[in-house]
Amino acid sequence: MSDGPFQITDYMRRYDFENVVLCNDNSTGLRAVIAIHDTTLGPAAGGCRMWTYPTEWDAIEDALRLGRGMTYKYAAAGVDLGGGKAVILGDPRKDKSEGLFRSMGRFVERLGGLYYTGEDVGTTLADMEQMHRETSFVITLPEYLGGAGPIAGATACGVIEGMRVAVRRVTGSDSLAGLTVGVQGLGAVGGELVPRLAGLDAKLVVCDTETDRVEALKDLDGLAVVQPERIYDQPMDVFAPCALGGVLNNATIPRLTCKVVAGCANNQLRSEEDGVEIERRGIVYAPDYIINAGGTVYDTDRLFGGTHVHDRALAKVRRIHETTQRVFELAEREGIPSFRAADRLAEARIAEVAKAKGLRARGGVQ
Ligand code: NAI
Repeated sequence: MSDGPFQITDYMRRYDFENVVLCNDNSTGLRAVIAIHDTTLGPAAGGCRMWTYPTEWDAIEDALRLGRGMTYKYAAAGVDLGGGKAVILGDPRKDKSEGLFRSMGRFVERLGGLYYTGEDVGTTLADMEQMHRETSFVITLPEYLGGAGPIAGATACGVIEGMRVAVRRVTGSDSLAGLTVGVQGLGAVGGELVPRLAGLDAKLVVCDTETDRVEALKDLDGLAVVQPERIYDQPMDVFAPCALGGVLNNATIPRLTCKVVAGCANNQLRSEEDGVEIERRGIVYAPDYIINAGGTVYDTDRLFGGTHVHDRALAKVRRIHETTQRVFELAEREGIPSFRAADRLAEARIAEVAKAKGLRARGGVQ
């Protein structure tokens, strides 16, 4: 996070952002930021986060950083959407109201479809429902409103596809049977991932800081529970970070004995150097935003097919298998780490579509 006011327009120039919209509504107390990064592929889409930020600059920076990440996620996943993100400044435990989300919905509506919103950290499907009363530009919705409902299962499905490809690079086989997978975090996605991995005959070592999350799964066969701080030291074939960002860093990487890292957490690498170091140690890293795109692929299905169709959406999620394969092939061909290959794949698709649409080539200015 920034120490003080950072230069918004400098940041926008560096990463070629299109718009940043600040929203204020004194009647409901809403203060929010909508960052629209790149709409080459289609309207910007990305969740609406609600969080208490130390300063409003931090909120704007977070919206920008996350919005840019969505451009890459959709581009690499082959979805025709651009990247954006909204952030509501406030405490999700205390500051929510119907008025606040309806007000946010009106701001989204005013953008006329340039930005589609959805659930994110600090917001729920119920909050999306309130926004939806004011705007149709909401992606994540309950099934009774035509949405895909909860998406964590689809995210878990995509993670398994990516994990299989990464494992094949080490063992020569897609099978996870008999391999030990360490899962850090048993929340919405981790809680879906663990039973699926058990169903594929993987052995499991799991942890969570919340005991009820562990309790819910502890009866699964072959499951061992460890203290959260010990997870990095466990003998395991695959490590699946499914809790926080920044968990692959100079303190944790030397402790890992696994040959593969493949999990759903966003921004797993604390820095680019960590992405280089992890590969130097012979660990295959399945880039986070490539393999955790399942939920976003699943719930945006209805934007392209009229209504949400479960089987069609899931078939698209399974394509994460081929995308991960392409990322590793590109990395090998170019002699670059997998996280860089992921970015190149996304950038190449945006450039190709821009050319096909006769749009100017985009790109930041350093
Ligand atoms: P969640 O909040 O439901 O679950 C996170 C879990 O991690 C919680 O059970 C929490 O107690 C646990 N946890 C927190 N700190 C921990 C630690 N130090 N050690 C072990 N466990 C810890 O979140 P969700 O939705 O499962 O997402 C997990 C990660 O995946 C996040 O980084 C999220 O941004 C990312 N993600 C989630 C998607 C989804 O479909 N929900 C889609 C793409 C990415």
